Amino acid sequence: MAHLEAVQKGRNVMLAAVCDRDEGLADRFGRQYDAERIHTDYDAMLADGSVDAVIIATADTFHVPAARRALAAGKHVFCEKPLGVTVEEVEELRADVQSSDLVLQVGHMMRFDPGIQSAHAFVTDEMGEMLALKAWYCDSTYRYIMTDAVQPVTRTGPDALRPPGDRKADLHRYNLLAHGSHLVDLARYLGGPIRSVQARLLERHGAMCWFVDVDFDSGALGHLDLTLQVRMDWHEGLQIYGQHGSVLAKIHNPWYYKSSEVDIFREATGSYSRVLGADGHFYRRQIEAFADVIRSEQAGTPTTMNGASIDDGVASVRALVAIRRSADSGKPVDLADVSGPV
Ligand SMILES: NC(=O)c1ccc[n+]([C@@H]2O[C@H](COP(=O)([O-])OP(=O)(O)OC[C@H]3O[C@@H](n4cnc5c(N)ncnc54)[C@H](O)[C@@H]3O)[C@@H](O)[C@H]2O)c1
Repeated sequence: MAHLEAVQKGRNVMLAAVCDRDEGLADRFGRQYDAERIHTDYDAMLADGSVDAVIIATADTFHVPAARRALAAGKHVFCEKPLGVTVEEVEELRADVQSSDLVLQVGHMMRFDPGIQSAHAFVTDEMGEMLALKAWYCDSTYRYIMTDAVQPVTRTGPDALRPPGDRKADLHRYNLLAHGSHLVDLARYLGGPIRSVQARLLERHGAMCWFVDVDFDSGALGHLDLTLQVRMDWHEGLQIYGQHGSVLAKIHNPWYYKSSEVDIFREATGSYSRVLGADGHFYRRQIEAFADVIRSEQAGTPTTMNGASIDDGVASVRALVAIRRSADSGKPVDLADVSGPV
């Protein structure tokens, strides 16, 4: 839905190849997006010397094995969120990345929303000490009615490769992986590393609501609200209270490609400002930034990665496991202490 168009439109990338186990899908989308080669065998694509980097947009449980194979083949990796599904596997992947000279970026695309980027710049350069961060990610009962109206028709095929079983059989796990991963990365992007969490989970009338108290390393207080599904419009946003100003953000459903409405209040001027962010194609912007990092390293002038790094990806998986354990036990959980699956 996102990456093929992002690569086709990207200023510094080209689609060398498309791979899907289902030949019909690979052929249809390879042709539609001008891929130079079309594969149904992942290892054959990894053996292709003209492929510099791979985008892994498969089921969550396939991310780490596919990323490790790509690194072993000498390819840079862009991996969809969540990075993985267990602490152990993402730590193994981190070891692989650290022992290579390859780039790995995780698909936390909100880091490339111009509104969220304006908040990040303010927090980093002007706001001073952070007192507190609150963020909420509340999927809507109307979500699919709304996204079906703007997305292309979803295609699949008889040979599409998916893990056995129903991915929504364990809805706690599914919602944390699919949705909670966005919320946790956003909190970390703006609030910095998370030390520990204490989570409560309530299920009523078919909805589930996690309220999570967060201790940031900085000492700031955090509160995260993950609710699926609210009986209202898509509801996502955040507030930050700082020493010299504050941030209020309304985040739109990503498939509208509309930059967040982020109001920044500066005590110094006594006024609010809001960036328009006309280019809200954060899926394309993140791929361009990924390629910029690779190209700058190839040129011997490395640039900082603005996207989510391997360390960010691992930290998000640890936070998701910690939220799940804390909701089960009723106790605070340190991210450093967790193990096992989300
Ligand atoms: N960042 C976002 O906003 C966002 C939005 C939606 C989905 N996602 C993520 O994108 C990922 C993919 O989601 P999806 O719903 O498109 O998955 P999907 O299962 O519908 O599609 C994945 C495709 O990959 C193919 N595939 C899997 N393993 C393969 C292999 N080894 N070789 C060749 N082909 C292989 C399958 O045949 C399938 O067609 C998930 O991790 C999801 O969390 C992110």
